[in-house]
Amino acid sequence: MHQVKKAIIPAAGFGTRLLPATKSMPKEMLPIIDKPVLQYVIEEAVESGIEDILIITGRGKQSIENHFDYSPDLEVFLRENGKEDLVDSVQSIGDKCRIFYIRQKVQRGLGDAIRLGADHIGHEPFAVLLGDTIIAPPSDETRPGLRQLVEAYQTTGSSVVAVHHVPREWVVRYGVVDGAPVSEGSNLYRLDRLVEKPAVDEAPTDLAIAGRYIFESDIFQCIDQTREGVGGEIQLTDAMNLLAQRKPMYALAWRARRYDIGNRIEYAKCFIDFAMKRHDTRDAIREHLSREKLV
Ligand code: G1P
Repeated sequence: MHQVKKAIIPAAGFGTRLLPATKSMPKEMLPIIDKPVLQYVIEEAVESGIEDILIITGRGKQSIENHFDYSPDLEVFLRENGKEDLVDSVQSIGDKCRIFYIRQKVQRGLGDAIRLGADHIGHEPFAVLLGDTIIAPPSDETRPGLRQLVEAYQTTGSSVVAVHHVPREWVVRYGVVDGAPVSEGSNLYRLDRLVEKPAVDEAPTDLAIAGRYIFESDIFQCIDQTREGVGGEIQLTDAMNLLAQRKPMYALAWRARRYDIGNRIEYAKCFIDFAMKRHDTRDAIREHLSREKLV
């Protein structure tokens, strides 16, 4: 079986739910404390064994390329001002993997964005990480989110998607999967069917697609055969549904916390949770919240 070394990160969406902040700044570049969302996503990929990343961008997303490139003027400035320790923080992430870019000219949906990576990926298995989604594993889990999925792929040898249980009324926002656990009590499901943004009374389960996927390259053929679905877009979930009819496909119901940064409440929660966790911010933030009686 091939190792999963390549990943596609779609980051072409407009981020309309976060306007006006996203008028001139991609939502993937919004900071959580001092790092843009996309850097957390790329770190998760690298820590999960990914060496080659293709980012699907679009108009107005140039700051993404600048961020993962060298910045010689800034580095000289930091060195001359005795801030050597910060040089590494602005330099290192782009060095840990090869990063490539393709622009999606017209927004035709997530499936269409992934299809743009077909030539780059070739016939290898690959990961997809949504660029606006941060995954935070629970404190007793040492593996980053994508690593858990890579291990499920190594066990099954088939495409596998991360899912999580959501309150029933939330299914309308997600892709929802239907299937049976591979054994009693297992959190790995063999899938029969996937449906994008079903109505509450039509959702087969409460298991929602969580923004991380591992695919065999046959997904590209399925995307080519997928017609416009919800919202008039080429939906990745519809292509996965085709794939599940042809080959075994699995879902891993993980326990990781997922933050959808495109949603302002989730973005605010992510910022607060990370500020409460990081050793250089937590004491001050806790003290502030309790002194101001904010919690
Ligand atoms: C996309 C996918 C959906 C998935 C969701 C996770 O939807 O199409 O299947 O559950 O991401 O965030 P979007 O959020 O782009 O509407």
